[in-house]
Amino acid sequence: MFKINENYLKLPGSYLFSAIGKKVNAYSAAHPDKKIIRLGIGDVTQPLAPAIIEALHGAVDEMGKAETFRGYAPDLGYEFLRNAIAENDYRARGCDIHADEIFVSDGAKCDAGNIQEIFSLDNRIAVCDPVYPVYVDSNVMAGRTGTYDNIAETWSNVIYMPCTEENDFAPEFPKETPDLIYLCFPNNPTGAAITRQRLQEWVDYANRVGAVIIYDAAYEAYISEEKIPHSIYECEGAKACAIELRSFSKNAGFTGVRLGFTVVPKELRCGDVSLHALWARRHGTKYNGAPYLVQRAGEAVYSEAGRIQLKEQVAYYMNNARYIYDGLKEAGYTVSGGVNAPYIWLKAPCGMTSWEFFDCLLEQVNVVGTPGSGFGPSGETYFRLTAFGSYENTVEAMERIKGLEL
Ligand code: MLT
Repeated sequence: MFKINENYLKLPGSYLFSAIGKKVNAYSAAHPDKKIIRLGIGDVTQPLAPAIIEALHGAVDEMGKAETFRGYAPDLGYEFLRNAIAENDYRARGCDIHADEIFVSDGAKCDAGNIQEIFSLDNRIAVCDPVYPVYVDSNVMAGRTGTYDNIAETWSNVIYMPCTEENDFAPEFPKETPDLIYLCFPNNPTGAAITRQRLQEWVDYANRVGAVIIYDAAYEAYISEEKIPHSIYECEGAKACAIELRSFSKNAGFTGVRLGFTVVPKELRCGDVSLHALWARRHGTKYNGAPYLVQRAGEAVYSEAGRIQLKEQVAYYMNNARYIYDGLKEAGYTVSGGVNAPYIWLKAPCGMTSWEFFDCLLEQVNVVGTPGSGFGPSGETYFRLTAFGSYENTVEAMERIKGLEL
């Protein structure tokens, strides 16, 4: 008789954004006349930039001709894209990352979930609390997290690093020594950023204790301050201890197109085993590459026109971020984030729990956000709003929130 992977049974509830989606759909079905404004999941709303559309059209035409048709993509991704990434995202910032250290994929979420596979089940993970749920849930599925405490909402074998108002939502070194450290900056969900100096301390720490940092930089395009690093490889010694995850979803609006990449430097080793070789083996066995069309679209992100258009798109969302931040402040909320990230993190008013505030917003003013507790116990009483809506919806949502009867 077959058996299932029982680790899946340990997962409490469904994936955060699926649970929210179900709740909102049920409300919408019961109140079809209500206009719901969705500032919950960090999904973009602006159309793809013209330079990207042009690249997609061009690639579609190529696929229609025998002489330019492409089948399977190379394991690690097309060189034209990997070269563009290495040059623009890394060497232009002084980071010594080469094209053959870049693995193109269909998005950072999959890589964030899959990367744990190349590590032993004995490894102890450390995560920020609150945290993007994929890091923890994928380790639960693998059987690395121990047992779940329903009251504390924590896993026995996970090291939690609380990110609260007191530490400016930046984690401190944990008391217990982790093997794998997940860091995401600019942060989802809090919108907090980490300074170059502080990230250097994390790199030094990881090298000292022999840990690997899995650094999720999906939101780097939203950085506005000079002191904030765009990549962990801006720090000395990072190539010996860090894997970096990147996405085209947030900087170029590819949430529905799907493209991302992971950097595994060749210097990153466990004894004489190269992590690059392990990830290459995994990629080659389990993945057939992002579509040619999409990789050409990714290349256009780095073209002159693409860069100008996407800068405008990021500025559009950051204008929303400022609007939300200022509006909430004016209305008396405790607010953070929104300066180097498209997320605004606020304290639920009147002592409400984060789900109570979620229900209140949905039912009273038909605005959807994300309850902080969905990201971990330290997110309780907090709430996340995204700047990825349209400007018009953002303005309307803020009017409605200001009119809440609390
Ligand atoms: C979020 O809302 O946290 C993100 O959009 C989820 C994701 O990028 O997978």
